[in-house]
Amino acid sequence: MSFQPPKGTDDIGAPESHIWRDVLRQWETWADRFGYPLVMTPLFEATELFERGVGDDTEVVTKQMYTFTDKGGRSVTLRPEGTAGVVRAFLNSGVPGAWKGAYSGPMFRYERPQAGRRRQFWQVGVEYLDVEGPAADAEVIELGFRFLSAVEVAGLKVVLNSMGDESCRPGYVATLRAYLSERRTDLCDESESLVDLNPLRVLDCKVCAPVLDDAPAMKDYLCAACADHYAGVKAYLEHLEIPYSEDGRLVRGLDYYTRTAFEYVATDLAAAQNAVGGGGRYDGLAESIGGRRAPGVGFALGVDRIVLSSSLVPDSLLDVYVISETNPPDALFASSLLRRAGLRVDFDTEGRSVKAQFKVASRSVARAVLVVRGRKDPVEARIGEERTELPIGDAAQWLTDRLR
Ligand code: HAM
Repeated sequence: MSFQPPKGTDDIGAPESHIWRDVLRQWETWADRFGYPLVMTPLFEATELFERGVGDDTEVVTKQMYTFTDKGGRSVTLRPEGTAGVVRAFLNSGVPGAWKGAYSGPMFRYERPQAGRRRQFWQVGVEYLDVEGPAADAEVIELGFRFLSAVEVAGLKVVLNSMGDESCRPGYVATLRAYLSERRTDLCDESESLVDLNPLRVLDCKVCAPVLDDAPAMKDYLCAACADHYAGVKAYLEHLEIPYSEDGRLVRGLDYYTRTAFEYVATDLAAAQNAVGGGGRYDGLAESIGGRRAPGVGFALGVDRIVLSSSLVPDSLLDVYVISETNPPDALFASSLLRRAGLRVDFDTEGRSVKAQFKVASRSVARAVLVVRGRKDPVEARIGEERTELPIGDAAQWLTDRLR
């Protein structure tokens, strides 16, 4: 066929989709446990929402957005991330007081595709709004950590930093800019161009790492309120026994962060895509998109990368494969009985030979096989070495007792 999925997008089917399904189910379980109800926002939003929310001069906005003009002449953008849309939805809802939302869905960024870096990728995440204290940050970080541990992300690490706020960051940025200005000739072209524009972003440059070894770190320039907050978050994480390390150079690619910034790193993945997730506090975001003050904290995790690093082995998808000599009508009938009793069942609709049906049954890794010989005859149920003949009407109960 001449059509391929667009560059940087994927068709995901079985067996890989079994892992996706398990990861997404676990996500719902963990989000529920922490009291985050589902929130769903549009896949496209007004372009300006991301320009103002994520930041005009971030790479996400300047290089990676899928932006187009719709038939009504409006500039809209496929969401490159979930936070700006969720905060907009929260503000529009007019809900007062602390508010939680969990999301799961595709995001779009025009990036150079590679493993774990896709143009359409899937994020799960949470936003916790109208909350100020460090316990909120710790709770959010814990949720991501427990979930990523449950889905067996290999070599999981939490990396933490504080980005300060509007009172202490400008002083730090000026100090950093002065430090970088003195070393302009040692920086790569891209970093050199960022010294005046956004020196924080230089800290993220892998090429310039040697020049940055002695660079001033934000955590040494925090104002008293930010230092207290940062100490509070660390104390709570220790209390919750969540291992973390600090990295004064951790700056996130989005402009809205204040105070806490963190990443979940899968140390077993290649460095270019080993951040399986990240997040932080964004106390000024709601105001920057025209709303009231609503400090918040959240994270998003990249499911494509989680699947790459997870050592989950998917469970069997099927409880029973039904095989019939009088295929298909009797298998159809027997399958229906079992399905209505809550079992996961499949059979061959195409009238293939019994031998061919057994082949499919073993390939499908169904946990049990039911051999049906005619509507009234006893059927034979098989689980491993165990075999029994019984009336069709008793089969569902017999199988359920053994499989559940
Ligand atoms: P982010 O760091 O841009 O943060 O993205 C979070 C995660 O999404 C990354 O760590 C990565 O796993 C995944 N990701 C990002 N881009 C791609 C891509 N092109 N292909 C595959 N996976 C990707 C945010 O999006 C913020 N909204 C997180 C947040 C929520 N902060 C506060 N609340």
